[in-house]
Amino acid sequence: MKLSIIILAAGQGTRMCSGLPKVLHTLGGRPLLAHVIDSARALEATDIHVVIGHGAESVRESFADAGVQWVMQEQQLGTGHAVAQAMPDIADDHVVLVMYGDVPLIRKDTLEPLCATAAQGFVGVLTAELDDPTGYGRILHHADGSISGIVEEKDASSHERGIREINTGFLAASAGALRRWVDALDNSNAQGEFYLTDVVARAVSDGVGVRGICASSIAEVMGINDRMQLATQERSYQRCQAEACMRRGVTLIDPERFDLRGTLAAGQDVIIDVNAVLEGDVRLGERVSIGPNVVLRNVRIGDDVTVLANCVIEDADIGNAARIGPFARIRPETRLADNTHVGNFVEIKKSDVAAGSKINHLSYIGDSSIGRNVNIGAGTITCNYDGANKHRTVIGDNAFIGSDTQLVAPVTVGDGATIGAGSTITQDAPAAELTLSRSEQQTRKGWKRPVKKK
Ligand code: UD1
Ligand code: CA
Repeated sequence: MKLSIIILAAGQGTRMCSGLPKVLHTLGGRPLLAHVIDSARALEATDIHVVIGHGAESVRESFADAGVQWVMQEQQLGTGHAVAQAMPDIADDHVVLVMYGDVPLIRKDTLEPLCATAAQGFVGVLTAELDDPTGYGRILHHADGSISGIVEEKDASSHERGIREINTGFLAASAGALRRWVDALDNSNAQGEFYLTDVVARAVSDGVGVRGICASSIAEVMGINDRMQLATQERSYQRCQAEACMRRGVTLIDPERFDLRGTLAAGQDVIIDVNAVLEGDVRLGERVSIGPNVVLRNVRIGDDVTVLANCVIEDADIGNAARIGPFARIRPETRLADNTHVGNFVEIKKSDVAAGSKINHLSYIGDSSIGRNVNIGAGTITCNYDGANKHRTVIGDNAFIGSDTQLVAPVTVGDGATIGAGSTITQDAPAAELTLSRSEQQTRKGWKRPVKKK
């Protein structure tokens, strides 16, 4: 079977009340359309055609490398009209599967039988049974139970509106026949649109059988029309991801308060506390513990690492047995080696911290290389920026930086050097010596505090 997929994404999405085209709104951190294209790819289609209209330029730009064919639908004259725009590029002997750009959770396994039905010469329609079918097209049956057509809600009689079996919109048919049927559509209906759903009645009158395949999961076939549905689908997506993580051996203290907006690879016995937000490519080693309210974005974390509450770690590499937080911010291009400790209110940017070093309190470390077993005292600041350029700070192994020190870069502190507390270091500090810059302490004997005048 050669499969061509048409994804309908030209609609405005009026109910989103948004300047952004609907299919660019995100679910799990990625545009709705990205999820649909993923499912389309998983079906190994020969070609994928995306019909765009509203916000076409921004949709196309967001998917510049998607390898799909763009089809412009200048005016949104209906789903049948949208499909017709894509048909000229599709060969007659293909099976065509129609998908919607705003139904992001659809899975390959659900669509495969639909395509297989079409490959056998039937029209396949994905249906669902809903308690409240309001707004959907209803599936009509002949007396023998076979499908006779689909009626849109606005065209339906009150009897037809009582039908709970609905059209999800996913449809598969052979391209040659579909081309004939969409070319012959008319718009004499309540909405004055060319309905793709009318193809079903045309197939029936051509003697082509129509088979309904009922979706096993409602969430999977739910479209997103407004921000309430977007939020509902986001939760259902996150619940699936949380379950997948738990099945692979990750403990989530509360799966309802877990957000993965990308991918998570995790070793055994990882524990993730509530309100973690994981973005991009996150890799955790074994026995990692992630505290509450932690944001991890594109990070690799080794084994036995503890990240305490309220840390934000981005584009960083963390070695084994490191301990971070609470309230630490690790910014891009930071590498913390094994057994490093980074404590509260510490910000680290574009720096390498070698094994066993500690930066435990209230510090800013930027553009720095810090050796092994270094102790950075509370309140240490690397002054890496002169107002025009950034400069590096290099600190050797076993150095000890006293509290409240400013290291004015470019500057090097040698191996085993000690910097006295409160120093402003503007020149290199030699190895193994004590360096400090501090005005001498004075005591004024007999000095009296001023007293308040009466
Ligand atoms: C459609 C179906 C309805 C089904 C419902 C499921 C038709 C006539 N009706 O109704 O039976 O129950 O979906 O959600 O097919 N689109 C275009 N170009 C257009 C019109 C629509 O690309 O000219 C796209 C939209 O962007 C959207 C999809 O097609 O992704 C569905 O369009 P929408 O207007 O939401 O269809 P419904 O009226 O909901
Ligand atoms: Ca819709």
